Amino acid sequence: MMGNFHCKCEKKQVADNDEIENNQVLFSIGGIMEPSATLAGLKTYFKDSKNKIIEDYFTFLKFQSISSEPQYKEQLLNCVEWLKTYLDEMGFQVQIWPTQGHPVIFASFEKAGSSQPTLLIYNHYDVQPVDPLDLWHSPPFEPILKSGKVFARGAQDNKGQCYYILLALKALLLRDGTLPINIKLCIEGEEECGSAGLSQILPLRKGDLKADYLAVVDLGMEKPDKPAITLGTRGIVTMDLTVTGTHTDLHSGSHGGIAFNPIHALIKLLSLARDDYGKITIPGFYDNVKDLNENEKKQISLDFDVKKYQADFGAEATGGEQNYSVLERGWTRPTLEVNGINGGYSGDGFKTVIPAKATAKISCRLVPGQDPRIIGPLVADFFETHAPNGTKVKVHLHAGHGEALRADINSPVVAAFAKAYEEVFQTSCDYIFAGGSIPIITQLKDICGGEVVMLGLGLLSDCIHAPNEHFGVDRLEKGYLSAARAFENLRK
Ligand code: BES
Ligand code: MN
Repeated sequence: MMGNFHCKCEKKQVADNDEIENNQVLFSIGGIMEPSATLAGLKTYFKDSKNKIIEDYFTFLKFQSISSEPQYKEQLLNCVEWLKTYLDEMGFQVQIWPTQGHPVIFASFEKAGSSQPTLLIYNHYDVQPVDPLDLWHSPPFEPILKSGKVFARGAQDNKGQCYYILLALKALLLRDGTLPINIKLCIEGEEECGSAGLSQILPLRKGDLKADYLAVVDLGMEKPDKPAITLGTRGIVTMDLTVTGTHTDLHSGSHGGIAFNPIHALIKLLSLARDDYGKITIPGFYDNVKDLNENEKKQISLDFDVKKYQADFGAEATGGEQNYSVLERGWTRPTLEVNGINGGYSGDGFKTVIPAKATAKISCRLVPGQDPRIIGPLVADFFETHAPNGTKVKVHLHAGHGEALRADINSPVVAAFAKAYEEVFQTSCDYIFAGGSIPIITQLKDICGGEVVMLGLGLLSDCIHAPNEHFGVDRLEKGYLSAARAFENLRK
């Protein structure tokens, strides 16, 4: 049974178009939307096509599209080809935009005409590296379905969330032969390494990317049964810090007490950057930082369950600046984190050596008012000018960086998605912030010229960027349903 859905080959319009229109009348009880007959039809399609839906999702997940490691270049290109074919078959106009890095897929379907709004949707097909591989229960690029969850790298971030958008578009096209609004898709391949390629070509693509609204579908919610719209994300700037001291590794007996150990220098430098209360001590770091305004404080809840957090992650919520609440620290304050340290000997037993070199990988999360092009050099300069006597410090700033972004809770595109979420989840929509970053989106919003909504059905427990990343098939379905309904809600 296909309900109102028809294969392309049937080449026919929906027989009872009127009925669908009529069914779209929504009832509101206590502010929560009753599920409509339209929603029921969309659910039937998902149920009836489930095998094919999961099969295509798995195909998408099998591409090893790790953007940060050069040896995966071909896999990324294969993934682009697959997406292109998928979108071609749906009837989209597809372009592949080359960049200095990995290509961007741009696809559009604009048959709704100029009386209807244009929505630009952002996703990414690249994924994070998979190390440590031995901690995966099944291979990261061989997706499997276990207890209603799909395990694979990218299952959630961001192939899963990209896929349910495609599914929503595909279902509407099958049902109606057209879409309720004009849709543009921008699916990039370098989000996980900073989006430098897309950033460079954006100004050239301004005409293509023009839209009334931008939906960034790469975010999450706090609880599985409570949909959320993200009103704020943090920016990011990343760097490598290298300390060198000697020509070569030295014997720590012959040279200990004489030569300055680069690892000691690194420790010294990193501890210089913060005080005992978690505040970053680099002069100028907090200049221009904007605190939450009264309106924003009313829009989001900063309640945080410290015990649950500890139970879920084995982490006490003691990081960051001590004079702020947990979620203020996680959502609204900038950070400087060390993501990795290297140097010297760390094998079995011991080796008495003063290493010639020590390195650290550092990232700063940024909030409104902070410009990565200012904060990056500021931090680099601080470390370089505080090199302990006898050591050399060099900081390399990475190309991909991005600013913090805020969405307007009052914009029609936020309302359209909130309404869809409420209909699908049968509960009110939460408004949250995210601590994470999507580097390109401030620029993308400026270029498209429209209002932004940031959303997604990710959960902290999905293990994104970690072994055993997964996404629930229930959320794949809800993402698909919500997206389809939101597109319809945007129709004038
Ligand atoms: N989907 C995430 C962003 C995200 C993370 C949103 C957590 C909400 C909660 C995105 O793919 C991501 O991981 N971004 C990176 C960007 C970085 C590698 C430049 C990040 O935030 O670390
Ligand atoms: Mn990610």
